Amino acid sequence: MNDALIRTFNIWKVYQVGKVMYPALRDISLEVEKGEFLCVVGPSGCGKTTLLNILGALDRPTKGDIFFENISLNKLSDDKLAEFRNKRIGFVFQTFNLIAHLTAMENVELPMMVLGVPPRERKKRAIEILSRFLPESSFFKRPTELSSGEQQRVAIARALANNPDVILADEPTGNLDSANKHQVVNIFREFREEEGKTIVMVTHDLEMTKYADRIVKLRDGQISEIIGR
Ligand SMILES: Nc1ncnc2c1ncn2[C@@H]1O[C@H](COP(=O)(O)OP(=O)(O)OP(=O)(O)O)[C@@H](O)[C@H]1O
Ligand SMILES: [Mg+2]
Repeated sequence: MNDALIRTFNIWKVYQVGKVMYPALRDISLEVEKGEFLCVVGPSGCGKTTLLNILGALDRPTKGDIFFENISLNKLSDDKLAEFRNKRIGFVFQTFNLIAHLTAMENVELPMMVLGVPPRERKKRAIEILSRFLPESSFFKRPTELSSGEQQRVAIARALANNPDVILADEPTGNLDSANKHQVVNIFREFREEEGKTIVMVTHDLEMTKYADRIVKLRDGQISEIIGR
């Protein structure tokens, strides 16, 4: 219990479409432990992205409480929530979501810029992180000039820029070939093993779940099973 990084209590997310209320998440109580690699799996539409977005404070639950360490996310204003997210959470998406007109370097600098890190310092840190994942010759390329695998590694570097406690990844290997998939998952494992950080990864790819400590299975907005530990 004490080692929980994120805890949700009876979370619901209800979308209203016209007059119809649609519960995308129904009564989810889950603990994400510090330092674990958690995978979230389940059929399309079962609520994986909705859950990840709530865990990462990109979205708010309709009902239920969510705590990050001892911070009640429901109690934070939108501005505070955005600041919290930028400092403590790194997001990685299936389609990379890099900014097209910025170079790899600038994409990695962006989250630091938002926090007001001075240019010299943020360039130094961007180079430090990017060097782990990309040849130097690619630092000043724009996303369209990079391969898919390289784009995802830049996106991961961006997610790591502000030294977050947790990486939340939504199908991060969905658009990658087998070699790049394993590379991405290995970067996550390193992040956890060397720095004790936490990973939550949504995936359709059963092969990727073998790296997880625990697997949470969702079905129709509910947890149907938790495998592991
Ligand atoms: N903004 C929204 N408005 C209304 N319904 C939504 C909205 N976002 C998601 N939903 C619905 O909530 C349910 C869960 O969506 P979610 O995107 O979390 O599924 P998912 O498990 O991530 O699916 P996939 O594997 O296809 O990415 C779906 O039925 C979806 O149609
Ligand atoms: Mg999804």
